[in-house]
Amino acid sequence: MRNSIVLSALLCATATLAQIPGETLTGTVGNTSIAGSNAGPDKNGKYVIQGVGIRANFIPYGASISNLFINDTNGIERDIVGGFDNASYYGIDRQHPHFGGIPGRYANRIKNSSFVIDGTTYHVLPNENPTPEAPQGADTLHGGPDGWDWRNWTVVAHTSSSITFSLTDPDGDQGFPGEVVSYVTYSLGNMSWDFKMVALATTKKTPIMLSSHVYWNLDGFANNETALALNHSLWMPYAGQRVGTDNILIPTGDILSNQQYSLNDFWSSPKQIGANFTNPDLLGNCGFNCTGYDTCYLTNRAQDGPYDWREKGPVARLRSAWSGIQVDVFTDQDAFQVYSCGGQNGSMALKSTQGLFNVTDRPRTIPQYGCIVMEVEDWIDAINQPEWGRSKKQIYGPGDDPYVLQASYQFSLNSTAVGLNGPGSG
Ligand SMILES: *[C@@H]1O[C@H](CO)[C@@H](O)[C@H](O)[C@H]1NC(C)=O
Ligand SMILES: *[C@@H]1O[C@H](CO)[C@@H](O)[C@H](O)[C@H]1NC(C)=O
Ligand SMILES: *[C@@H]1O[C@H](CO)[C@@H](O)[C@H](O)[C@H]1NC(C)=O
Ligand SMILES: *[C@@H]1O[C@H](CO)[C@@H](O)[C@H](O)[C@H]1NC(C)=O
Ligand SMILES: *[C@@H]1O[C@H](CO)[C@@H](O)[C@H](O)[C@H]1NC(C)=O
Ligand SMILES: *[C@@H]1O[C@H](CO)[C@@H](O)[C@H](O)[C@H]1NC(C)=O
Ligand SMILES: *[C@@H]1O[C@H](CO)[C@@H](O)[C@H](O)[C@H]1NC(C)=O
Ligand SMILES: *[C@@H]1O[C@H](CO)[C@@H](O)[C@H](O)[C@H]1NC(C)=O
Ligand SMILES: *[C@@H]1O[C@H](CO)[C@@H](O)[C@H](O)[C@H]1NC(C)=O
Ligand SMILES: *[C@@H]1O[C@H](CO)[C@@H](O)[C@H](O)[C@H]1NC(C)=O
Ligand SMILES: *[C@@H]1O[C@H](CO)[C@@H](O)[C@H](O)[C@H]1NC(C)=O
Ligand SMILES: *[C@@H]1O[C@H](CO)[C@@H](O)[C@H](O)[C@H]1NC(C)=O
Repeated sequence: MRNSIVLSALLCATATLAQIPGETLTGTVGNTSIAGSNAGPDKNGKYVIQGVGIRANFIPYGASISNLFINDTNGIERDIVGGFDNASYYGIDRQHPHFGGIPGRYANRIKNSSFVIDGTTYHVLPNENPTPEAPQGADTLHGGPDGWDWRNWTVVAHTSSSITFSLTDPDGDQGFPGEVVSYVTYSLGNMSWDFKMVALATTKKTPIMLSSHVYWNLDGFANNETALALNHSLWMPYAGQRVGTDNILIPTGDILSNQQYSLNDFWSSPKQIGANFTNPDLLGNCGFNCTGYDTCYLTNRAQDGPYDWREKGPVARLRSAWSGIQVDVFTDQDAFQVYSCGGQNGSMALKSTQGLFNVTDRPRTIPQYGCIVMEVEDWIDAINQPEWGRSKKQIYGPGDDPYVLQASYQFSLNSTAVGLNGPGSG
């Protein structure tokens, strides 16, 4: 019965289940329908929730978002996140792109698959960058070969506008010390998607860092002028600095400055993702032989004193002038990873709700640079950079306050044409 104790302990920390006025509450708890409910998964294994001007599907695998529908400036519904058509395929596809799920218990990379807590060195399972000396990998990505986004979470609540998943990660799984119990609530409001992730270390001190790993294409992969997302513009007003990484994207410990007009300057004004792709210096900016971005930007809002993350303004704004769909990302997190999909190679299918249907010369797959991943998170691999002083944000033990991540993605239509404010404005 420990879980019910944990659940009540977390109750004050989990999000209020948002409700659209006038709609009745429907849902399921575990396998049991709750009063007035008939809202299990649909025939594709997806749970549907909706808000005003927004609808989304979620699946237990990775507690992933699989579809997100918004009407564009022409009133055409666009499904703006990468995913698969049915829940069962997520576990079958071996490429496993962390499609819309929750990386955990420790998102991003862990250097040499090890870390030290209170003088004890822990080794976790590697799963990236194999070498002859380390055939399973030189580092651990997104919590290991069976990280949280490879597991089926339990649906513990489902209303017309929200869904809550839970996962219990046992002591020793992937090599991590101690049990972690997590609850995640996603809710839709008026053109907004909010989420709250809570995790509790119940038995031992352990690293915890979660994120949401969504592949965005704000045109629903239906832009009839380009299959790419390089014309999306990105603005990160607080991202004056980024985490320096080596050629396999492991932090070196250096915090780098993003000088105005440099390749990584997305703070001084909105800039198209592809604006600097003709600059040869962009080669290697996202690791060995990679052109583009796979970068952890810091979202330093404390520069103006104490702040409320809901009021301070977005850490990021992504916009496509073609669809006019714009998303402003608000979060309590202090870092923001941007990946420009340089590793995509056309092997991932679009969903039936995406793409162009009357054009035969364009494959129904996600091309290289066809998407943008945005991850709210803390400073990556800070467990191996004690000089950054972030252990209170990353190491949790029994009796500590829970790990909490909150974000609000606020959508709007912005039909400002490309180029009105210069080439970067898109
Ligand atoms: C839910 O259903 C599955 C499969 O029918 C069963 O194995 C499991 O025990 C059930 N869980 C609960 C909480 O009843
Ligand atoms: C898009 O507009 C159509 C027609 O008005 C409407 O039926 C649909 O619900 C809208 N989609 C969303 C996600 O709000
Ligand atoms: C699920 O989706 C995959 C990928 O789109 C497809 O290959 C498969 O046939 C689908 N399976 C079912 C049962 O619909
Ligand atoms: C997860 O759930 C899907 C159905 O949605 C099922 O096909 C798959 O076997 C499950 N995977 C695991 C690891 O339980
Ligand atoms: C990496 O971890 C291995 C054990 O897994 C250890 O033998 C080695 O010394 C570590 N290397 C570095 C550079 O810390
Ligand atoms: C949604 O937000 C818009 C703009 O802020 C507002 O005009 C509209 O009344 C809101 N709709 C509802 C149902 O709250
Ligand atoms: C491209 O899409 C836009 C928006 O849906 C549409 O207005 C335009 O006619 C399309 N152009 C072509 C060549 O299909
Ligand atoms: C992309 O943006 C550039 C301006 O930076 C513009 O010249 C070009 O027409 C746009 N391409 C598409 C396909 O929208
Ligand atoms: C990057 O692109 C922006 C917008 O076009 C431009 O102002 C800036 O000079 C470019 N920077 C580099 C280093 O190429
Ligand atoms: C670098 O990437 C290009 C394609 O993006 C590929 O053709 C080339 O083989 C790669 N080079 C190395 C050394 O991996
Ligand atoms: C393709 O279909 C879209 C709407 O579905 C339409 O706007 C566009 O003109 C069509 N393009 C061609 C080349 O037929
Ligand atoms: C719409 O996008 C343009 C170009 O990026 C930007 O200057 C403007 O502030 C945006 N408008 C709103 C209301 O967000």
